[in-house]
Amino acid sequence: MYSLWSNLEIGALFLVAFFAWRAGASAAKLRYGGSAERLKRKTRRTVLWMALLLLSIGLQIWSALEVWAYSPWMLSQDFVSVHLPLVVMPTLFVIGCVLPRIYWIARESGRRTGAPLDPELFRQASHPLLVVPLRATALCALTAIYFFLAVPVPFVPADVMLPLMILGLVVVFAANLAWHRWKRLLNDRNASAATLPPLWKRSMRALAMLAVVGAIATGGIALNAQASRLPDHVRMDEGTMDYGGGTDFPHVSSGQVEVQAASASAGAPAVPVTELTGDVSGTPDRRFALTAQKTQVKLGSGKTKEAWTFDGQLPGPELRMRQGELVEVVLTNRDIAEGVTIHWHGLDIPNAQDGVAGATQNAVRPGESFVYRFRPEQTGTFWYHSHQDSQEAVKRGLFGPLVVEPAAGQDPKVKDIVALANERAFQTSDPIRREAVAPGTPVRLRLISTDDWVIRRFTLVGTPFRVAAIDGTELNKPGELTDTHLELTTGSRADLVFTMPDHPVFLSVGGSKNRGILLSKDGTGEIPDIPATRVFNPLHYGEPADVPFDDKTTYDRNFTMLLDNKFGFYNGSFTNLYTINGKVFPKTPMFMVRQGEKVRVTIANHGQVDHPMHLHGHHMLVLSRNGERSTGSPWWSDTLDVRQGDVYEVAFVADNPGLWMDHCHNLSHAAVGMSMHLMYEGVTTPFEVGSASFNRPE
Ligand code: C2O
Ligand code: CU
Repeated sequence: MYSLWSNLEIGALFLVAFFAWRAGASAAKLRYGGSAERLKRKTRRTVLWMALLLLSIGLQIWSALEVWAYSPWMLSQDFVSVHLPLVVMPTLFVIGCVLPRIYWIARESGRRTGAPLDPELFRQASHPLLVVPLRATALCALTAIYFFLAVPVPFVPADVMLPLMILGLVVVFAANLAWHRWKRLLNDRNASAATLPPLWKRSMRALAMLAVVGAIATGGIALNAQASRLPDHVRMDEGTMDYGGGTDFPHVSSGQVEVQAASASAGAPAVPVTELTGDVSGTPDRRFALTAQKTQVKLGSGKTKEAWTFDGQLPGPELRMRQGELVEVVLTNRDIAEGVTIHWHGLDIPNAQDGVAGATQNAVRPGESFVYRFRPEQTGTFWYHSHQDSQEAVKRGLFGPLVVEPAAGQDPKVKDIVALANERAFQTSDPIRREAVAPGTPVRLRLISTDDWVIRRFTLVGTPFRVAAIDGTELNKPGELTDTHLELTTGSRADLVFTMPDHPVFLSVGGSKNRGILLSKDGTGEIPDIPATRVFNPLHYGEPADVPFDDKTTYDRNFTMLLDNKFGFYNGSFTNLYTINGKVFPKTPMFMVRQGEKVRVTIANHGQVDHPMHLHGHHMLVLSRNGERSTGSPWWSDTLDVRQGDVYEVAFVADNPGLWMDHCHNLSHAAVGMSMHLMYEGVTTPFEVGSASFNRPE
């Protein structure tokens, strides 16, 4: 509902601005021309524009009120306290001043004929109160549109007051001018015979106005562009601290560690992220070596294209390991000049292994290697990808699937199929993959969605199935589903299980028969038709089970993440910004926590597009979505699809000390600043991002 009404409201604002401008221009011409007949015709035209204006005002008010009714204050605040008054106030003047005058003129001009106009009719037709309220409405609507493009959310009075003051001054100044011109006009005996000034004169005036506005704007723009430049040196243990309403604690960054050593008042001793390794001594149970390299890959079309790959494969090789094993992965960068790391997406392992350039390590340069060692504690479906310039890296191919089997290994009877959806990987393989599966075989399909800014649709046809896991976490007692599709946002995963029937089963990727996996007795057979399906909703699926939170939990920290988009500058260039609490990195806040604390986060999307929010090192339990409580199986997520107008309440236990990225997994959004981090007390990092460093996490 929020998306419908908020989009309508924005549309209505543009209509209000346009029609108010047209109506104003039309009303301003009433005084020209002289004869009653001409005045009558012109009045009719003005009335038409005003009718359209009032209709669009009605639509704007209606939809703003609906937004208010349907969504929490966080999402409706700017509609109610900025847009609405900006439209309603000038409208009162239109109704109070313009309408009666227009009505009177229409009536009187209808009764008279010929030229010149009678003095009272001319007086009214040239009255400033005929035009000024309409012009003011247009300006107010434009101001509201400005507040849509540069959203003042969360509310910062200074961001709102300045434009409003400028608007007020312009209106008062223009009204004053109009008043004096009118007085002069009435003294001029021939005024009623005046004709419209020639086009060139009017254009000159408009140009002069534009020039003034342009000059002011250019100044503001230059200042903003300058202020958005990324600093040369940024440490992720520094930044704006947000304590989420909980007790604050002194926080030191690595730059201040020496200062802290000399000061008695400091809190917990500083621990650099590099020491947060967990116990990884001993001989690894499993070793992998991955080489990042440029590779010419063959596309289905026959052409070849350069990709960045792990081991020359697209996607990278499947890493399969068992719960609790000591795993070692040696990453070598052969020739990716931009640098490489590996992040284990969804695995909650110790911070030192998290693989984020500039946060937990330096990006690995060509010719260099880096050794990751960790013990996976979860089982399930994950993926890995480079977290150095991750937008570019993942787009070009530096990613692959990762599966953690139970400690005892997976039941050998199960047919385990990884379905990693990726545009680039699709181009290099057959659109339809065929697998032979004997009827009666238990099947586990591991769905992984990796494309940037794609909500991937998966439809399983030909068998009932269960969603066994989401984001690498088993669901409790999942029920059987038919005619249901899943929508997986960028970075998220789901495991589907079923028993192979004696006819073909098709996993459609994208909703059509053109792309997917066909399972049948012998790997041949017809692709079944895809029926109408409804979307899977995890909120009420499966049965409740123990979680560390209940209704009576008092949370040590309550954070808010308000997601949005607006126009502005990022590192000096004008772009569409994707913001968290109105800011882009490095001005986004750090959520400050202490080990062991219970943390609640409200994530709300006030913008126009969806944001898959990904928290490293932790899984978030969904408590509610849009006020609706989660009543099914505990739904633990590491990548949560937050769509326009969505409000999620999630909770997690701060049980994994470190410096953890929390960012949008539409990596193109993260790349322009939709990124922040969770920061544990006492944790510091020796690494740096910022333009002088080689590290570029996003
Ligand atoms: Cu899959 Cu921070 O990313
Ligand atoms: Cu996003």
